[in-house]
Amino acid sequence: MALQRKKKVTRVTKVKKFQDKVAVITGGASGIGLALARRFARGGARLGLLDMDAEALQREAARLAGGGTEVVAAVCDVSARRDCQAGIDAVLGRFGRIDVLVNNAGITARDRFVDTRAEVFERVMAVNFFGSLYCTQAALASLRASRGLIVVVESLAGVSPLLGRSAYCASKHALHGLFTTLRAELRPDGVQVMIACPGFVQTNLQRRALGGDGRVTARPQSRVGRQTSAAAVADILYRAALRRRPMVVLTPVGKIAYWVSRLMPLTYERLMARQFAVELSREARRP
Ligand code: NAI
Repeated sequence: MALQRKKKVTRVTKVKKFQDKVAVITGGASGIGLALARRFARGGARLGLLDMDAEALQREAARLAGGGTEVVAAVCDVSARRDCQAGIDAVLGRFGRIDVLVNNAGITARDRFVDTRAEVFERVMAVNFFGSLYCTQAALASLRASRGLIVVVESLAGVSPLLGRSAYCASKHALHGLFTTLRAELRPDGVQVMIACPGFVQTNLQRRALGGDGRVTARPQSRVGRQTSAAAVADILYRAALRRRPMVVLTPVGKIAYWVSRLMPLTYERLMARQFAVELSREARRP
């Protein structure tokens, strides 16, 4: 049985369904976005990488191009609508089509709500929510023409509360509302939406987390379960994209958290509140 399943997976991954297709990945210069870029490149796709980190973007695009992948790299702050349009136009100018759009670029913020300035909410919403909205709007005509796929890198924070990260959680819930609606609205056009909820992944996200004052925070990261590698996440998401899955919740802890928060939301809130109280008291004892 296990052997049969393995054989099936191997067969699916060997079919290069994305050969010569064009995948645009925002936040493609680091972490999950970069791992996805490498995975799509191995699958034969042509790439459009959008990222605001010009140095990392040029370096990683050059590496991918050195491996034989056709890449358009566009320096772009996704919170700026004009940047998103220009980035998508650059990809269309070179390849003439977009088959997959991965809305992945994101930032996080860690602090109690009472200590978080409204500007932090505005910045996190601007990148995580509006960035995905602008890129989707810019790429939509092409995605409809190709009957393509939109992948949204959300988080469990998109479907359940995450204490101490209210801005991040709000931005991911906003994404969830937008893209579950689009999933239904765009289905008649043949455009599929796949929502991805990774668990904790080893990337640069937490190192760049904003504190409540808007500066990069030294506040320690809270997490449940072990961290996965970005490459492992990319592999799972790539295979899910081949199957055009509507929703992917990664890791066993993530799946349990997803179902508990869906079926018993108040119990879930109480569990999260208890864990957050432990974190706060641990933090208060730190010298
Ligand atoms: P990362 O920090 O390694 O990569 C994020 C990339 O987005 C970086 O290359 C960064 O330069 C880029 N970026 C940030 N702001 C941007 C902007 N305004 N315009 C353009 N590019 C921008 O982080 P990671 O973890 O790979 O994050 C990718 C996505 O995965 C995010 O949406 C995050 O919320 C989500 N995610 C991450 C998890 C984790 O544990 N690392 C868990 C669940 C979801």
